[in-house]
Amino acid sequence: MKKFCVIGNPIDHSLSPKLHNFWFKKNRIEAIYEKKLLEEKEIPNLIESIRNSEINGANVTVPFKNSVIPFLDDLSSEAKKTNSVNTICIEENKVVGHNTDIAGFELALRYINYDVKRKKALIIGAGGVSPSIILALKNMGCENICLTNRTFEKAEKIKETFSDISIRKWGDIPEFDIVINATSFGLKNENFDLDFYEFGNNKFFYDVIYNPSETNFLKNARLKGNKTENGRMMFIYQAHQSFALWNKVLPKIDKETIEILK
Ligand code: ATR
Repeated sequence: MKKFCVIGNPIDHSLSPKLHNFWFKKNRIEAIYEKKLLEEKEIPNLIESIRNSEINGANVTVPFKNSVIPFLDDLSSEAKKTNSVNTICIEENKVVGHNTDIAGFELALRYINYDVKRKKALIIGAGGVSPSIILALKNMGCENICLTNRTFEKAEKIKETFSDISIRKWGDIPEFDIVINATSFGLKNENFDLDFYEFGNNKFFYDVIYNPSETNFLKNARLKGNKTENGRMMFIYQAHQSFALWNKVLPKIDKETIEILK
């Protein structure tokens, strides 16, 4: 029986096991997928378990998307461009890091027919998933991307990779069409100390968090009359791409798939 897992800390909120185990069953693949709560110092051992095939592949979530990189043999071009890995596989005896968050975000916006061309995008947070959101927005033709982060230096660090984005001090909210919460702030339904509403109520609020399905960030935006979307479809699409990398099968994304995550 093949074994897969998602590593992170915290990891309780992850619905990856539910989704991958559902697809294994649907596609009659003998495999099991588990979540593993890891400490940073346990990463080398985990990678060794993949190298010696005790584990056949892994997803990586907060806060390890960057810190796994030194232990891998190779990176896909997307993982290189973003310094971020969310999927690990074995390819020709090498442990390779991929980034399927980029495609996940792109496909999620395409799913709801949201066109980012000529739109002003504001990204909140400079954590593990932010470079993937930036690259996805750029791939889709968004030319006006602004990043803000509580710790300004981390936003500056991302600008070193993506020189054409602009960065703002925390609390200094520029005019935007779409605002994306790319932080893990909200997993426990906390409230941002930011005022997003001075530019009207016809904006699009996107949260990469999908569990809880409506963070306070989205709830407040909805109550003010804005369009909102959580990270569920991004989550499904990134998982879809990971599943294909490991199993060479593209499972169906149908109503039942979406329902099991609600
Ligand atoms: P990592 O950075 O390890 O990948 P992450 O959860 O993806 O982990 O990223 C954490 C993000 O959430 C960061 O942008 C962080 O801001 P700082 O860089 O200032 O730490 C942001 N974040 C976490 N708690 C926050 C809070 N209370 N208010 C605002 N931003 C917060």
